[in-house]
Amino acid sequence: MKLAGLRFAVAGAVLICTSAMSVNAEDAANSPAISSAELDTYVKGMWPHVEPGWESRLTQDETQAQCSRVRNNPSPDEAQKITERETATIRYPSDGNVLGYWREGEKIASSGKGGQFSDAPDTQHGGNCYACHQLAPGEVAFGTLGPSLTGYGKLHEFSADAARAAYAKLFNAQASVACSNMPRFGAHGFLTEQQLKDVNAYLFDRESPVNK
Ligand code: HEC
Repeated sequence: MKLAGLRFAVAGAVLICTSAMSVNAEDAANSPAISSAELDTYVKGMWPHVEPGWESRLTQDETQAQCSRVRNNPSPDEAQKITERETATIRYPSDGNVLGYWREGEKIASSGKGGQFSDAPDTQHGGNCYACHQLAPGEVAFGTLGPSLTGYGKLHEFSADAARAAYAKLFNAQASVACSNMPRFGAHGFLTEQQLKDVNAYLFDRESPVNK
């Protein structure tokens, strides 16, 4: 199980965020604050040498900055603004079909490759879904930051609307949960449209191991 270590490493790293998530808005407002500027300087200082073209990855976008400020606990008003802004980024496939090939989706869900300094630039990106989610019941290595997705299609009665909603979730997780810890795979162009369809089919195809 080559990826197991990586999955747990990633899940471990994100667990640190969940302790901040449990802080309520009032506590967050009262706790000793580090200013956004200080945080920014600190993060940038950790990466003194950045590959050309990667500088923007050290700069939070509006949603990330807002979620950091309130420790992932936005007020209902803030949350609504975030989900509206993020919903506006969603692009559905032009042919209207949100489902691809589950076998390809299985590979994407199991791969944590791509987007790292050690990856060759032409490395195919993976979704690393298993770092945070249980999916196929036969897979023993998975993280638990996200809910179990075992039987996801079956639980949603393989409905077309649910499949479309899941495509939107994969495209931009923060369109439905303002400060979600799930990456925005489509909005950031990390996964291609075809990859999003394939991984969605892994959730929704009747033949996919996820639904067995
Ligand atoms: C870094 C952790 C992380 C990764 C990686 C991740 N997710 Fe998630 N996911 C979450 C969390 C946390 C939630 C619950 C909060 C939310 O709904 O945004 C979630 C929610 C979901 C949901 C909604 C479940 C429901 O409530 O109906 C789906 C579907 C989903 N993820 C699919 C995926 C797929 C497929 C991948 C891989 C392409 C993936 N996730 C990768 C963390 C992650």
